[in-house]
Amino acid sequence: MKKLEQVYEGKAKKVFKTDDENLFIVDYKDDATAFNGLKKGTIAGKGAINNRMTNSMMQLLEQHGIPTHFVKELSERETLVKRVKIVPIEVIVRNVAAGSLAKRLGLAEGTRLKSTVLEYCYKNDDLGDPMINEYHVYAMGLATKEELEKIAAYSFKINEIMTEFFHEIGVDLIDFKLEYGITNDGTLVLADEISPDTCRFWDVKTGEKLDKDRFRRDLGGVEEAYQEMMKRLLAHNAGGQN
Ligand code: TMP
Ligand code: ASP
Repeated sequence: MKKLEQVYEGKAKKVFKTDDENLFIVDYKDDATAFNGLKKGTIAGKGAINNRMTNSMMQLLEQHGIPTHFVKELSERETLVKRVKIVPIEVIVRNVAAGSLAKRLGLAEGTRLKSTVLEYCYKNDDLGDPMINEYHVYAMGLATKEELEKIAAYSFKINEIMTEFFHEIGVDLIDFKLEYGITNDGTLVLADEISPDTCRFWDVKTGEKLDKDRFRRDLGGVEEAYQEMMKRLLAHNAGGQN
């Protein structure tokens, strides 16, 4: 598979064309940003960890019937994926109040929610990804009703699968962000990444944060947190349970 010209560079990844018009190559960077790019830095080794963790999660989800863009891991940082048109909606799933939800609703961080919360944000950096609801989605034509219903159903199912998986490695899945895309043949698939950049992971026993909040909030031990998540994931997968 030939890596051709770059089609996109985001805050954490670059995307390249290939000689197959239905496939792209994603290249993960160590760059980290927060607060819509206001805070910038690097997290050594993050690209490789996020690539591997994302691919591992995508394969787990595929096994449970969730269609994803994943095709094949090519190297430490590069993965072959289906070419998609990203649906410009960030889907956030929350089990425990944290981050912007805790702030917006005045809930103490760590308050377990009585039921799962699903939120949508309009993916637009210039506007700071404002929160929207399904009416805005339809009014702006961001997705059809059929697509959004599928997005919601997949997201709740992904939450169940991932909550159980992370629990097995001693991690409480607090919340996470998903993005979906439409392939050239019109199929809705899970895209983007699933990593400590896009999820909140708290150690079940100690409550220690093992995700990008360590970078966002200057808590120190950022690289160590990413490495710890990778170590647990690898140990679990080596156990043959994947
Ligand atoms: P929030 O509490 O800041 O709204 O974040 C909710 C979840 O979404 C959290 O797991 C981090 C993730 N997230 C992203 O992946 N990208 C973003 O740009 C933001 C704001 C959050
Ligand atoms: N990466 C996002 C940004 O820079 C935000 C975040 O993950 O906190 O906007």
